[in-house]
Amino acid sequence: MRQLTRAALVAAAAAMLPAAAAADTLKVGLLLPYSSVYASLGNEITDGFNLALATYGEGLEISTVQEDTEVKPNVGLAKTRKLILQDEVDVIVGVVSSGVLGALRDFVHRAEVPLVVANAGNSVMTGASCSPYVIRVSFSNDQVNRPMGPWLYEQGVGKVYTLAPDYAAGRQMIEAFANAYTEAGGEIVGQAFTPFQDTKDFGPYLTAAQESGADALFTFYAGGEAIAFVKQYGDFGLSDSLPLYGSGFLTSPLYVAAQGPAADGVVTSLHYVPTIDTPENTSFRATYRERFEREPSEYAVAGYDAGRLVVEALRTAGGPGEAFHSALRTTSFTGPRGPLRIDPATNNVIQNIYVYRTEVAEDGTATQVILDTIEAVQDPPAGCEM
Ligand code: PHB
Repeated sequence: MRQLTRAALVAAAAAMLPAAAAADTLKVGLLLPYSSVYASLGNEITDGFNLALATYGEGLEISTVQEDTEVKPNVGLAKTRKLILQDEVDVIVGVVSSGVLGALRDFVHRAEVPLVVANAGNSVMTGASCSPYVIRVSFSNDQVNRPMGPWLYEQGVGKVYTLAPDYAAGRQMIEAFANAYTEAGGEIVGQAFTPFQDTKDFGPYLTAAQESGADALFTFYAGGEAIAFVKQYGDFGLSDSLPLYGSGFLTSPLYVAAQGPAADGVVTSLHYVPTIDTPENTSFRATYRERFEREPSEYAVAGYDAGRLVVEALRTAGGPGEAFHSALRTTSFTGPRGPLRIDPATNNVIQNIYVYRTEVAEDGTATQVILDTIEAVQDPPAGCEM
């Protein structure tokens, strides 16, 4: 049904337009949260994506349709159906929540429309439930957190308490860290998962962590939850007795200013920080700051690299279709975060992971001090068969 419609459209377009103009045209569905707890992330990914089109897309005709997932799996799926069946997009870019990605995976797989994931780290979607049509340029929940296991143990931290929101991303990030940490010799002395989007008071959880006998706290929170959590951690005055670690979304440059001094000294790991000292990042950071008057975050870079991937694949293929899909899976480049390529075995990105400390100055400005770089981190296939 969809293919018939697509074929009819292509025939009509070919009759009306010069061939070259038709070939370089691409319709992109931007599927992101523009409301709710991850709204700022969705806007930042959109800014990064549009900047990449402006930077790399000269001469190409790329149109976009934006849809709001509201961070709800059922809404994300409904919007995916709309983008594919009604708007007939050639590719979908976006998805922030692991829960939303899990909900729409089967639909894009059956429709055979490529999805370039620009955030959602759901490891299963590039593991046991992988699909040739789900191509992730952001990170996986395992990839970001696994390196922190041995790293933290080697710092002399022997006992950890973990906290994260109770949904796919929280569960996977903590599991990846905890497995690697206990394998290295560390002990998880307690864990809690807080109701996702529904926890305003982290006090009882911080109290339980404090009483657990842990040397440190390891967490994943993002967006509005990260702001609330880090501020409340600061109010508890735990930085000496129970130092805070986690995945780097916790103190993202996107919202670290809202966390204030509580973010000072927090050590986390991530695939991008604005202080990466390379020519590619220096120039990207300058452009981004000039255009948006703020530091680029990992969300901006995921949107930017997703845009660049789409543009480069379109140039290689000359238009949408199977050649474009295959180019999405094989294009590699060095961007603001360092070298990246898509792993043909899983469709997950292979990239560096940076361990960094957030430092907040007296005037409230935050900087990211890179403590370690773990190069070319690659997930095992974990049941993925393409
Ligand atoms: C996810 O749900 O996969 C997710 C959401 C926000 C983040 C990172 C991961 O910052």
